[in-house]
Amino acid sequence: MQLTDKIALVTGASAGLGARISRDLVERGAHVYGLARREERLGALQEELGSAFTPLPADVTSEEDVRNAFSRIGGRLDILINNAGLGKFGPAKDTSTSDWDLQVNVNLRGVFLCTRAAIPLMQEQNRNTGFGGHIVNVSSVAGLMGNPNVSTYNVTKFGLKGYSEALFKELREDGIKVTCIFPGSIETEFFEQAGVPISDNPMTSEDVSSSVLHVLQTPDNYLVSEIVMRPLRPKLKT
Ligand SMILES: NC(=O)c1ccc[n+]([C@@H]2O[C@H](COP(=O)([O-])OP(=O)(O)OC[C@H]3O[C@@H](n4cnc5c(N)ncnc54)[C@H](OP(=O)(O)O)[C@@H]3O)[C@@H](O)[C@H]2O)c1
Repeated sequence: MQLTDKIALVTGASAGLGARISRDLVERGAHVYGLARREERLGALQEELGSAFTPLPADVTSEEDVRNAFSRIGGRLDILINNAGLGKFGPAKDTSTSDWDLQVNVNLRGVFLCTRAAIPLMQEQNRNTGFGGHIVNVSSVAGLMGNPNVSTYNVTKFGLKGYSEALFKELREDGIKVTCIFPGSIETEFFEQAGVPISDNPMTSEDVSSSVLHVLQTPDNYLVSEIVMRPLRPKLKT
């Protein structure tokens, strides 16, 4: 897909990877709707990016917020980046019900609500143009392997792998691509919430965004369904 004049919705656009993908899409001529809760962060990104970026203050876990956000995008959507997410790491026996619910709700319910709202718009576009659009789901290497103290986050990111695989098979005949990405550590604020130190030599948001943009720009009949991304030398002190 050529990105010029395309309409994208990026969840979790207020920070980290989502903000980087939003910048990169705008640089390539797309219009980005950036969805997140922190309005001041979204406002700062709009000041930086100008009219090609529209903030959509919303909580992805709220059905009403997601409905309202989608009502503002004007009936056309080429790209959905389901990026909003978080981890709260710790032993399974100490995991609070609220931390379980929070991770499941943001990382899975949020993706479900946004995807369900996007599919009819992309199907309509496929009927009109022969190509529906592209949904990118941000999982994690934690969606491929379980590890101690990561169990709830593992559940959500494994779940996203299954959801993505089902969607890609369900939607391919509608001309809608679905890609699931599985990054290792990225240098973002993620680790502040996760409650663990970041690895010594993480990837940057730029690294990961560059692969997302590559996947979005593939020829229309070529689908990259999954990508695993890792730092080359995770233990290298920089
Ligand atoms: N950093 C890593 O090492 C790493 C590795 C693999 C995968 N990932 C995944 O990458 C994605 C992006 O994370 P990041 O590293 O960029 O972390 P981040 O810097 O903490 O950003 C997380 C984003 O998610 C948004 N978000 C959280 N809860 C939300 C809610 N209820 N409604 C709307 N937006 C919400 C936050 O916005 P607000 O707080 O403003 O709502 C923020 O924009 C996540 O899915 C994460 O699981 C991260």
